[in-house]
Amino acid sequence: MNIQALLSEKVSQAMIAAGAPADCEAQVRQSAKVQFGDYQANGVMAVAKKLGMAPRQLAEQVLSHLSLDGIANNVEIAGPGFINIFLAPEFLAEHVSTALKSDRLGISQPQPQTIVVDYSAPNVAKEMHVGHLRSTIIGDASVRTLEFLGHNVIRANHVGDWGTQFGMLIAFLELKQQENAGEMALADLEAFYREAKKHYDEDAEFAERARGYVVKLQGGDEYCREMWRKLVDITMSQNQKNYERLNVTLTRKDVMGESLYNPMLPGIVADLRAKGLAVESEGATVVFLDEYKNKEGEPMGVIIQKKDGGYLYTTTDIACAKYRYETLHADRVLYYIDSRQHQHLMQAWTIVRKAGYVPESVPLEHHMFGMMLGKDGKPFKTRAGGTVKLSDLLDEALERARRLVAEKNPDMPADELEKLANVVGIGAVKYADLSKNRTTDYVFDWDNMLAFEGNTAPYMQYAYTRVLSVFRKAGIEESVLENAPVQINEERESQLAARLLQFEETLSVVAREGTPHVMCAYLYDLAGLFSSFYEHCPIISAESDDVRHSRLKLALLTAKTLKQGLDTLGIETVERM
Ligand code: ARG
Repeated sequence: MNIQALLSEKVSQAMIAAGAPADCEAQVRQSAKVQFGDYQANGVMAVAKKLGMAPRQLAEQVLSHLSLDGIANNVEIAGPGFINIFLAPEFLAEHVSTALKSDRLGISQPQPQTIVVDYSAPNVAKEMHVGHLRSTIIGDASVRTLEFLGHNVIRANHVGDWGTQFGMLIAFLELKQQENAGEMALADLEAFYREAKKHYDEDAEFAERARGYVVKLQGGDEYCREMWRKLVDITMSQNQKNYERLNVTLTRKDVMGESLYNPMLPGIVADLRAKGLAVESEGATVVFLDEYKNKEGEPMGVIIQKKDGGYLYTTTDIACAKYRYETLHADRVLYYIDSRQHQHLMQAWTIVRKAGYVPESVPLEHHMFGMMLGKDGKPFKTRAGGTVKLSDLLDEALERARRLVAEKNPDMPADELEKLANVVGIGAVKYADLSKNRTTDYVFDWDNMLAFEGNTAPYMQYAYTRVLSVFRKAGIEESVLENAPVQINEERESQLAARLLQFEETLSVVAREGTPHVMCAYLYDLAGLFSSFYEHCPIISAESDDVRHSRLKLALLTAKTLKQGLDTLGIETVERM
């Protein structure tokens, strides 16, 4: 049940009835949009201005047309013309009951869309770095949210598995295999790449062989394909281990690497030329875009094919967008890529739109994110200044969480402790990222993310176990509550119930904007409201069975909402900690 949408609809009807111009319905609707959270319509002013009316006077008229029977029993005008809406206790009670009866917590299903989500996208023969970590975690939360709502989500792992560097990598793998050390060398991808590069730079004969292999690989040579496949397979099985540790839903079948689009590239270039969009310039094929100016103020040239015939990252992204629309039938495509690639994407998509490869009705959205910084405010690096290996980072998370949970639970059996450490440690790393607005850089700080206070994974996971413990203490089975009516009498009950019913609004914001921090903030707030409810509204010592059961139902919906909410974020929970 999306209360925000319901109220917005009612307010916009009332505005039109009160004389707001129906011909600009979209604007009225926009103005009538009830603010998320507090249920306050604050668009009256804008419409009043249009009508040349005093805002409070219009607000009065809107109220006289606003019928919220059974939804709100108190509506008031505040300030210069805001309309505050207070939900009726019976309405809250009814919807809490309905939510508890449904296995999707009463969340309505939007019109299902096919949504392609491009995320993670590590590179072959390279270690996943922290930028891929952000993309992986935030992208997966978005995927989980969209799937929970009922959309058909296609995960697209745009792995960097193509390009001229593969000649060098194949030649180096060959060298290592001759020494019977191929597998071993690939165990450390970072070192493998470094050494391959060294050979390439220092050994002319090696470099010559490498260049030959690129040509052969592109020509479909069996041997080179085989060696290439090995490089891809070994890299992706290492990454797969990271995905599993991170509780990320990506699998091998979600790999749609750059190589997939390679066969499309000659056709794209020919087509862009035929359409007059691409022209030859200094031997290369270039698309000049008026939308982007270079330093001299001239239209910027985007190279789509180099002089030597090679294609570029942009050419691949043009083909890829086309494929996602034409072949995957995407209704919407989301890209989780860091903000430094924004210009690249905008250029690729400008070309895509001009060429008519993807209609405007299908949004291509860059859900960008900032960098992960160290405590010193500089890009996150190891002490020696190298890139942080993801697996090392996760090892450290686990190590720190082990110490933390062992300290708090001296009597817990070892296997349970290990499980808990894993859930807390991985959860902490993920939640730290998810809880920040993705568009900004964020500081990676172990102490903050592992704190049991504040908007952190340990706090949220603990809050969940506390709600469950209310049930253990009450000793009442869920089935007993099934037919017990919910009654909302106290202020704290009504606050908690209203917030519980805002789960759907929160999901829809995350689905629309790809901003999981909105879900984190919601859950954190919900946990806080539960605490104050629990403090002020006794459950075990409630005045009657009816009240006790009703309050337990509120607690039950809180537990389910916390669990489901954390699940959409990819954060695991335990029953006790
Ligand atoms: N592999 C790229 C990198 O490491 C990210 C690819 C993102 N997706 C895309 N369609 N360009 O920077």
